[in-house]
Amino acid sequence: MEVIIRERAGDAVSLTGAIIARALRKRPNLVLGLATGRTMVAVYDLLVAMYEDDGLDFSLARTFNLDEYIGLPPEDPDSYRFYMNKHLFHRVNIDLRNTHLPNGMADDIDAGCAQYEETIQDCGGIDLQLLGIGSTGHIGFNEPLSAMRTRAKALSPETIEQNFPRPHPSKGVPKRAITMGVGTILECRRCVLLATGEGKAAVVAKAVEGPVTSMISASALQLHPKCTVIVDEAAAAQLEHKPYYRWIFENEPEWEEYR
Ligand code: F6R
Repeated sequence: MEVIIRERAGDAVSLTGAIIARALRKRPNLVLGLATGRTMVAVYDLLVAMYEDDGLDFSLARTFNLDEYIGLPPEDPDSYRFYMNKHLFHRVNIDLRNTHLPNGMADDIDAGCAQYEETIQDCGGIDLQLLGIGSTGHIGFNEPLSAMRTRAKALSPETIEQNFPRPHPSKGVPKRAITMGVGTILECRRCVLLATGEGKAAVVAKAVEGPVTSMISASALQLHPKCTVIVDEAAAAQLEHKPYYRWIFENEPEWEEYR
């Protein structure tokens, strides 16, 4: 794992978008792992701008999202399929048949999860996985005490509160989700985790500099051979080794073109 600190949230988003765009230009049929949530909206806006202004081509890209709520159909505005269509898929030239999310409406959730892993393998595995982090330390919806493979997971009350602060009175809130497992994520060739804002500072410090523990699923990324954690100064506030992380960005050849 390496940590890159950028000054403002917008700078962290720009770097994330630039890494994705570079990977897509290098490999047009990239297998891209995607995340949802508030943090990613700016990343998708940036990718859409690159598509519109610079011809970033999604026509051959294949995508796999990390997670989906159980019981929400694709047309539900709270579902992650709806989110992805709205923020990215309907705004770029991606072939919707090449976009995959776990099926939260499947009759047989376990079979659907096994099938999801198989489809990822059939596509050759995920080249680049975009990740956010929740305050429980989750990546995808790998809440504390998470397992390795794609499966159903109970959402924590904290996550439900964060994602559904004002639940629709007649609809209730989803309490379970399907998520790629920690192992599924660790198998991705490259991971890029983006976290911005002071609200993420405590959990980023635990995930990056704390012990590797299933209580903080993101800490497993410390062992990944190519994982970049991109944070702004606010999200980096509680990190102890900032001078080293800054040195990496200033000196490592890989980052030269992004400086
Ligand atoms: C959702 C996902 C989650 C979010 C995390 C942060 O697909 O992967 O792990 O990335 O909950 O969400 P925000 O950005 O809303 O703070």
